Amino acid sequence: MRTHEAGALHAVAGARGPTWLREPADVNALLPRLWPRNVERGPDGSLTMAGVPVTAIAERFGTPAYVVDEDDFRSRAREFRTAFGNAFAGLCGGADVYYAAKAFLCRATVRWVAEEGLHIDVCTGGELAVVQRAGFPAGRIGLHGNNKSETELARAVDAGVGRIVVDSQQEIERLARLAADRGVKARVMVRLTVGVEAHTHEYIATAHEDQKFGFPLAGGAAAAAVRAVVAEPSLELTGLHSHIGSQIFDTAAFEVAARRTLGLHAEIADEHGLALPELDLGGGFGIAYTSQDDPLPPAVLAAGMAEIVGQECRARGIKVPRISVEPGRAIAGPSTFTLYEVGTVKPVELDAGSTRTYVAVDGGMSDNIRAALYDADYSCTLANRRSSAAAVLARVVGKHCESGDILVKDEFLPGDVRPGDLIAVPATGAYARSLANTYNHVPRPPVVAVHDGQARVVVRRETEDDLLRFDVDD
Ligand SMILES: Cc1ncc(COP(=O)(O)O)c(C=O)c1O
Repeated sequence: MRTHEAGALHAVAGARGPTWLREPADVNALLPRLWPRNVERGPDGSLTMAGVPVTAIAERFGTPAYVVDEDDFRSRAREFRTAFGNAFAGLCGGADVYYAAKAFLCRATVRWVAEEGLHIDVCTGGELAVVQRAGFPAGRIGLHGNNKSETELARAVDAGVGRIVVDSQQEIERLARLAADRGVKARVMVRLTVGVEAHTHEYIATAHEDQKFGFPLAGGAAAAAVRAVVAEPSLELTGLHSHIGSQIFDTAAFEVAARRTLGLHAEIADEHGLALPELDLGGGFGIAYTSQDDPLPPAVLAAGMAEIVGQECRARGIKVPRISVEPGRAIAGPSTFTLYEVGTVKPVELDAGSTRTYVAVDGGMSDNIRAALYDADYSCTLANRRSSAAAVLARVVGKHCESGDILVKDEFLPGDVRPGDLIAVPATGAYARSLANTYNHVPRPPVVAVHDGQARVVVRRETEDDLLRFDVDD
């Protein structure tokens, strides 16, 4: 990487972009794995989702807008449930798939998840409230979080959620007291930190030891937490939980995590005489954001994980616990693109004598902060028309007062991209709306769900009044 006085970000792309980025033979072509399943480029050159042209979506709902393919979301939820259910059927009677609600949560997605027969995982009282208000069965809800408040824990106990994943000694004590006060037994899993470095961004890797989540296996903290739970009459230990991070593409890291988790599971059987009935291997299955990414289908992941768990349990002579997993991104992420309108186009001379075309759109880091937060890569396409212009190296940026307000760092777009064009950024279904904010008082976009030729708003656009709702006039 060349150095640059304005920082590395300014120097990496060079004339032809990063090494993984290839100039496409046809700049209008869509790489299928990046796009929701019902997206195609229609005869007039504009993208359509489930038969609805993006031009019609922009006209009716405005831009920016998150556009979600309901059938894509549902089909991925179904695929995970079927794949894991089938892969573990012979080992432990099946597996439960918890949709990680943090990826994207609204009442519509809760309904889709419920109808597709999944469970759901939440990590705050707010997420729990949405899921409850959408009428999701409490027994199929799991609650996570490294610092759940008394109120959140009480709400979960009162609701009768199926499992609470404990994350600290204080929480074990708090939960035990709350459950005892109510005369109930809370079903508890213990979150482990298994010491696996998943090859992902540091802020989304969660199982190396130097971080806030879970009880480290190393040094005996996890075994001590298990003893503390077992000693509480108002807590029922149902199993161990491990989540090693996000955007993981192979089963190797899960293999190490499963082996270590099952190691403690077996020790618990020896020490406490307890055959824990459940084991959760977390989420984190990767998706394609750009042509660099080639995720495994759920059936392949599930088969790989079933083989690992089966082998490990046989080797240790233990009964296979009922397995659960918690995909969020892999269900919600690929179902959605964000639709923007181009406002300005600015060619900028780079120091190597090449040019980068800055394409500024009507959203930015308020509707998708992942590039700014995680240095995440995205791709995009010109969405309202086909173009025969030569491709140029472009950077899609937002309208916020930050030079780091970047949505797509590097992409080839047609050289005639101009104000008024529509740009679609795929794979924004997870951690875009859910991490959205109103920086610079830019209202958050709506979520438009498309199904079978019909588009409808499932989360409305924020208004100027919404922006002022919490502002107390004194
Ligand atoms: C405990 C837990 N489970 C599941 C997930 C979902 O991860 P992903 O959306 O990458 O599948 C997360 C994400 O942070 C998590 O913390």
